[in-house]
Amino acid sequence: MAQYRIAVVVGSIRKDSFNKKLAEALEKLFPADFSFTAVRIDDLPLYNQDDDANPPEPVKRLKGEIAAAQGVVFVTPEYNRSIPGVLKNAIDHASRPYGQSVWEGKPAGVIGTSVGQLGTALAQQHLRNVLAYLDVPTLGQPEIFIQNREGLYDAAGNIGEASHKFLQGWVNDYVAWVKKHA
Ligand code: FNR
Repeated sequence: MAQYRIAVVVGSIRKDSFNKKLAEALEKLFPADFSFTAVRIDDLPLYNQDDDANPPEPVKRLKGEIAAAQGVVFVTPEYNRSIPGVLKNAIDHASRPYGQSVWEGKPAGVIGTSVGQLGTALAQQHLRNVLAYLDVPTLGQPEIFIQNREGLYDAAGNIGEASHKFLQGWVNDYVAWVKKHA
């Protein structure tokens, strides 16, 4: 059975991030031939083109993890109707030096949760723009906008009954998307 490794990039570096919790719950809905790398972005310096020739260790690690993955799932909050700066910083790092982007061709899924009712819809649209430029084939449908509220999880931290079918459907479509692009 083929094995698929997915790099999971959470757009929040907050210790108790709702998006990190969502990412961890989501992983449990994947089939057994999928495994995950939680990509660390909190120790990346601010991107500076002057460092392209001599990238620091965390940048090399980031690029190595994305390059080794068969797909990428972005789980991001919305900050001021866009993606958080920490996520854009990570994307920029892994896109450079020019011609050495590791994003190209990686089948991606975009998902997120926020406290607001729009459930990261606008952040996701901004992220899709960036990914389109980087030649990342991004699953278009279904779109998933989740408001973080009571009942989203069960007592064990798994996706609760009300959202399970919906999220399982997204995972199934994303799995097929990865296999199509493998
Ligand atoms: C927010 N939040 C927010 N929510 C939203 O739905 N739309 C938005 O535009 C914003 N903007 C925004 C800006 C900044 C700077 C912060 C700190 C927060 C609220 C956001 O949904 C909430 O803080 C989430 O808890 C962030 O996700 P994590 O960190 O829990 O994963």
